[in-house]
Amino acid sequence: MRTPIVAANWKMNKTQAEAREYCRRFRELVPEDFPVELVLFPPFTALGAVRDGLTGSVVKWGAQNVHPEPKGAFTGEISLPMLLEYEISYVIVGHSERRDIFGETDEFIARKIWAVLEAGVRPILCVGEKLEERREGRAREVVERQLSAALEGLSPEDADRVVIAYEPVWAIGTGVPARPEDAQEMAAFIRGWLRARLGDVADGIRIQYGGSVKPGNAGDFLRLPDIDGALVGGASLDPDSFFAIAREGVP
Ligand code: 13P
Repeated sequence: MRTPIVAANWKMNKTQAEAREYCRRFRELVPEDFPVELVLFPPFTALGAVRDGLTGSVVKWGAQNVHPEPKGAFTGEISLPMLLEYEISYVIVGHSERRDIFGETDEFIARKIWAVLEAGVRPILCVGEKLEERREGRAREVVERQLSAALEGLSPEDADRVVIAYEPVWAIGTGVPARPEDAQEMAAFIRGWLRARLGDVADGIRIQYGGSVKPGNAGDFLRLPDIDGALVGGASLDPDSFFAIAREGVP
């Protein structure tokens, strides 16, 4: 049985004060025995506030990005040793905004995956095709390229700690989610790819859907056989809305 994982990617939103208020409200909503794993991804500057606000609760937190090197002349970047001081559990790696706006390559993303795993942290690897790639019938080819660049050669033990988020780029922030049947088809393809390389370990790896998930449509995705959670952007910025989504993941 895979434990569902629903995560809030706040992107470049929320000050420390706003993060503190969010955590206060969110803790009121989440029962101690909530059966869905919950993870908040604040901006770096609010990690301390979120750590302080969530310590002692069942809710986890993580970073939206990381540099693969432990230190050095990389102005504006943040390393794993720096993040570990904030007791993070997860790091998002390869989000399409990092790939498309900031030019991150498959090779750079692969280095991040290895660095995150070596630090004992869990990566959420984002994959997904652009609209023209889907229209040209190349969605699987693109996702397969992203998977093999990031995960080829990983041991089954390491792979077991990876979460994969399928986020079609055209569904992110547009209000137009993928059709559930298309999300399921891609998630099954991803699981097949994992099974061919890792055997039975593939059955334990969680695959999230991301892209315009809202309380009103979350259940359509979280019910699908190969989808084990959601990575939520805009609708995660309000704690009540995010918790309403998470509740749809209760088995
Ligand atoms: P939206 O939920 O705002 O579409 O963003 C999805 C996303 O990019 C999560 O990482």
